[in-house]
Amino acid sequence: MHLINSSNCNQSNRESLLSESELRTQSFYDKWIGGKGFRSFIGRLVFNLSGVAYAGRFIKASNLDPQDRVLEVGSGLGQILATSHRKIKSKKTYIGIDISYQMIQRSTQFNGSLNQSNPLESIVASGLQIPFQKNCFDVVLLSHVLKYLPDSQVAQVLEEIKTVLLPKGRIVLWEFKPYPWTAINHLIVRGSGSHRLRTHREVETLLEEKGFQNIQPFHIHTPWPPWRNLAYTAYVE
Ligand SMILES: C[S@@+](CC[C@H](N)C(=O)[O-])C[C@H]1O[C@@H](n2cnc3c(N)ncnc32)[C@H](O)[C@@H]1O
Repeated sequence: MHLINSSNCNQSNRESLLSESELRTQSFYDKWIGGKGFRSFIGRLVFNLSGVAYAGRFIKASNLDPQDRVLEVGSGLGQILATSHRKIKSKKTYIGIDISYQMIQRSTQFNGSLNQSNPLESIVASGLQIPFQKNCFDVVLLSHVLKYLPDSQVAQVLEEIKTVLLPKGRIVLWEFKPYPWTAINHLIVRGSGSHRLRTHREVETLLEEKGFQNIQPFHIHTPWPPWRNLAYTAYVE
């Protein structure tokens, strides 16, 4: 395994043993993003546009500094981090982890060829077992990942994120939020191969229970369906 040393922060050689629900998500994304049909083409297009759609909001919400060390959990094609890195002219190597081999392979191909100085290292790993030591990152991003996690796994991912964040580090997260109509929520969940959508109150409670501080909602817009999002920043002590 290629181990990354990011500013005195070593990648641990912790192997990810995926849960059953993660294996389902992995297979869903590997088939979708790695496929040859029109649906796969649209999937790749949407995730390639994530940088354009979200990097500005991410930079603002996290108050991103060029010196910040950044991790994204469930980084997909890596476009949010790569675009943010370029926009703020960071000199740090950002890290993206994702359980989908297809996402990570394409992220590595794209970001490797895009920029010789390699803005982003993409690793196949689970957010339930983040393969980094304590106190490694200033900012952790979780973009459209929450819906894939049952409550117990959200708690575990938040605990892992707390561990790898530096004191005063911050988490930025967003996710689609439920519509008042169950049938539409059911369609969104089925179409994305996910577990469930959560309300503002549910997400706030999950962050509070993990001891995150200064939990602040912010507005984020997705230029494709299902449009409605909730978004938060929060800090560790
Ligand atoms: C909707 S995509 C979002 C990709 C990217 N964050 C973006 O916004 O463009 C969700 C991603 O989360 C990944 N994912 C889901 N559960 C995960 C877990 N437990 N650990 C790491 N990645 C996970 C999926 O493989 C998928 O690539």
